[in-house]
This record gives sequence, structure tokens and C-alpha cells, in this order.
Amino acid sequence: MYVNTKEMLEKARREHYMVIGAGCWSLNSAATFIDVAAALNRPLILMLWEGAPEPLAEQERICEYVRHAAGKTPVPIAMHLDHAHDLDTIYSAIHAGFSSVMFDGSELPFAENAEITREVVKVARACGVTVEAELGHVGQPGDEPGQSALTVPEEAADFVRQTGVDSLAVSIGTVHGVYQGEPHLDLDRLKRIYELVEIPLVLHGGSGTGLDLLKETMQYGISKLNVMTDLVLAAMKAASPDNFLPELEICEAIAKSLEGYMLPLTRVL
Ligand code: 13P
Repeated sequence: MYVNTKEMLEKARREHYMVIGAGCWSLNSAATFIDVAAALNRPLILMLWEGAPEPLAEQERICEYVRHAAGKTPVPIAMHLDHAHDLDTIYSAIHAGFSSVMFDGSELPFAENAEITREVVKVARACGVTVEAELGHVGQPGDEPGQSALTVPEEAADFVRQTGVDSLAVSIGTVHGVYQGEPHLDLDRLKRIYELVEIPLVLHGGSGTGLDLLKETMQYGISKLNVMTDLVLAAMKAASPDNFLPELEICEAIAKSLEGYMLPLTRVL
């Protein structure tokens, strides 16, 4: 069943579990992740990021396939545009049939981020599409000091009030990519955000964070977990030079990697 992210994330927030936002990069990866969700009877958000390389990850083509495949299973599946900075990309994704989009204004000043998010919400809502925004900035490992900025709880509440956004990505210590050293999450900060913000919260940079820490965040409103690096690393490992046609091994490896997140973190429907 092809859905937007609103009801699936609100349910996850109420019942304290997460829906996995799995970064995909091709038709094969999208098909594999849908098969995993269908086999495990768990909801899934497939994500394509703004700069995904075409033609492997051409928006319209992937979206058309995902809508078709989602229609063949009763589990809720959404197609989400991840980390879009450019309004044209957002509007073309909405036009292509994406059910959910992220406007990433996390490196903009608060007022500008809020203003553009509000605009995106207005357009998306009219098309039945849900919107994720980010406040604070989840960076990359090895960022310069100041490049990753943790979310200020009171600002998060104000941002949600001003924009009417459906879900909010927060920065509490995760990073995109491979951690340098041990991950440390600011759970007190997350708890305060949860007390002040009533919409589902999103955690980016899921890979390598560890299931114990991730399970703690579910108690405080994290309803969507974005994962991509671990899936790509699994694919790279499976694509060894000895494999003549490595697709099968890649699909098996990325399915196993996604299962490792879905089984412990997402509830059976
Ligand atoms: P990882 O690549 O660290 O899993 O993060 C993915 C992500 O947050 C995409 O938005």
C-alpha cells in the first residue's frame, strides 16, 4: 500500500517504535527493501536523496516502480525525497508522485529555514504530500567545530508552530556516515524536545549508532530512523571482484542489513 508518512509516523510516535527510512540508490535496492518490508510485515519509507546519481536513481522511474510494487503488498510503503535543498527538486518529486519530501534548511538561519519550510508545506499539503524539515544540523564525521549544531528544544517547538511541518529531524549527536569513535547522544536534549514538540521526530545518521542507543531514543519521540551508510557498506562488501554477477549477493547482503534495523526497531503491523 502506497502511503505518505503522516499516519505511519504518528502511529510510531504513539506506540514508541521507529519506521526505517532506508536510503535507496537504484531500482534493485528499492525492490529488495520493499521485499524485506513485505516479508517482515513492517512499514517502510524508501528514500532517495537530492543528489542521487541518474540514471541509476532517476526520480520518476524509481517512484513509478515503488508505487507499483507498494500496491502489491498490504504493508505501508512511502517514497521520500531526502535532504532536498532546492525547491525545484522538491516540486519535481511531488510531481513525480513522491508521497513525502524533506526540505533541508538546517544550515540556514532559523527565520529563513522556517520561511521556506512553510512555503514547501503549503504546496505539499495541497498535493497530499507530507513534509520533513530539519532544525539544528546533523553533520558528517570530521566536521569542523560548529558545523554540526545540536537542536535547541525551545526553538524546535517554535519552528513547528511557525511552519506546520509534519515531522522534524533533530540533531542530538548522530552523524551521517561512519562515526569516528563512539557515538554519544544527548538524550536529555531529546527528552526536552519530546516534551515540547508534539509531531514525530526523525533521527538521521542511523548507521553505526548501535541498537541500544537507538532503542532509547524511541521512548522520546524518534519515530523515523534514517539509514543508508550501513546498507551501502553491505553492498560494497558483497560486490567483491571475485563475483562474476554480484547483483544477487548484493541484494541478499542489503536485505540482511536492513533486517538488522527493522526486526528490533519496527513493530509488526
Ligand atoms: P547514515 O548514512 O549515517 O546511515 O545516515 C543516513 C541519513 O541520515 C540519510 O538522511
